[in-house]
Amino acid sequence: MKCIILIGYMCAGKTTVGKALAKELGRTFYDLDWYVEERFHKKVPQIFAEEGEARFRDLERRMLHEVAEFENIVLSCGGGTPCHFDNMDYMNSVAETYYLKATPETLIQHIAISRGERPLLKGKSPEELREFVSTQLAEREPYYEKAQHIVDINVLDSFDKIKDIVSLIKQETEAANA
Ligand code: S3P
Repeated sequence: MKCIILIGYMCAGKTTVGKALAKELGRTFYDLDWYVEERFHKKVPQIFAEEGEARFRDLERRMLHEVAEFENIVLSCGGGTPCHFDNMDYMNSVAETYYLKATPETLIQHIAISRGERPLLKGKSPEELREFVSTQLAEREPYYEKAQHIVDINVLDSFDKIKDIVSLIKQETEAANA
């Protein structure tokens, strides 16, 4: 079974949905940021701070090529993964890709309650954050929209909503593999 890859903006819910989906499908869950961190023994914010974003993008691309060809897994990518190099075309060629599509308003709500440190969002006032997310989402959407499947998500504020998204992706995956 081809790898299932979840893409989308930061805090769309890729990791939350990815874990639940992997459990539902009996697959192994991978998160690309965590994989980079394990392989290079450094947290993503530390890589950004000490070696710069370009270095992170290079490691991210290399690790994507390592993981995306594993079978029977669900992989959640970073929000920027599809937008660098030919990563999006590569993902579409080896995996089943799903874009978790959310509005800036939804993303801002998720960002407010998220715990992970995100170098690109750090230190911004609420107004700056709103402006940054809207602008960057608009720039990134053309890449995200290349995914083979697009799943519109509302705020993932309850277990039932996560379950609904998971069953939708499950159905589409089963149809794609039928
Ligand atoms: C990034 C998203 C992050 C992480 C890094 C850069 C981005 O992953 O890869 O901080 O460029 O959108 P999440 O989308 O899992 O937060």
